[in-house]
Amino acid sequence: MREAVRAATRTLREAGVPEPEASAQVLMSELLGVRRGEVLLREEPLSPEDAARYERWISRRLKREPVQRILGYAYFRNLKLYLNEDTLIPRPDTESVVEAALERIDARPLRVLDIGTGSGAIAIAIAQERPGCEVHATDISRRALEIARRNADLNGARVRFHLADLVSGLRLPGGVDLLVSNPPYVDVRGAQRRLAPEVREWDPPIALYSGEDEYAFFRRIFEETPEVLKEEADVVLEVGDGQSQKVLEMGEERGFRPLGTRRDLAGDVRAVLLRWEGGR
Ligand SMILES: C[S@@+](CC[C@H](N)C(=O)[O-])C[C@H]1O[C@@H](n2cnc3c(N)ncnc32)[C@H](O)[C@@H]1O
Repeated sequence: MREAVRAATRTLREAGVPEPEASAQVLMSELLGVRRGEVLLREEPLSPEDAARYERWISRRLKREPVQRILGYAYFRNLKLYLNEDTLIPRPDTESVVEAALERIDARPLRVLDIGTGSGAIAIAIAQERPGCEVHATDISRRALEIARRNADLNGARVRFHLADLVSGLRLPGGVDLLVSNPPYVDVRGAQRRLAPEVREWDPPIALYSGEDEYAFFRRIFEETPEVLKEEADVVLEVGDGQSQKVLEMGEERGFRPLGTRRDLAGDVRAVLLRWEGGR
């Protein structure tokens, strides 16, 4: 086992694949169901089937396919979430968006809406960590919703999923107390330059790109969501690097009071917080 991991790490490193050790170790630990720390301690040889499978996985990683796509699932907070080609790989960055949302919820049972739920990451994490909340989630992709439903079931979380373009056609009488979203926020023109092949070639375009205007989804969210918001509803949005100030200003112009920002684990501003006051 140890020799196979070392050889794979060398091959990946020589090919310039990012994080070669992590890729080689995680794939082995998931293949055999052992802890990552153990894969460099165990000397027993792999069975021919396992060796062949590991080799196939390493060849896929050599083509810059992300580890989570090779496995077909990703870990997010304490959830295991299955993926398909219509779902974004949930990012550790987005955990800070969940933290910010949980902070707004405190212990109060609220009605929460996650727009563009993908694998269900944000909605399922909130439903699981605050079981008193009524959690709804939308996506425009039917196939993403199929897997999000399955992820909710597998993780024992109750989330109501809706196929919708943002909130159009959604009926939530009385409105929601908390809106959370990680919308597409990459402008398609800069993408070739800025995104790593793992993202550009493997994440679904509909999850990444907001057209030629990186702020298009934020604009739509501020214009279209008030119809489903209770007065004083909290809003937590994930933003891209350098976007927070402009998003807060855009919200303010549409009647949302800016409350602040939150950083992700890498120290970058990743979430903006606002409150809907426009009904006044
Ligand atoms: C950046 S991904 C976020 C996925 C997931 N919430 C996460 O954080 O991992 C954006 C999601 O928005 C969905 N989406 C794109 N356009 C949409 C629209 N008009 N209405 C609803 N969802 C949309 C995509 O299918 C994708 O799942």
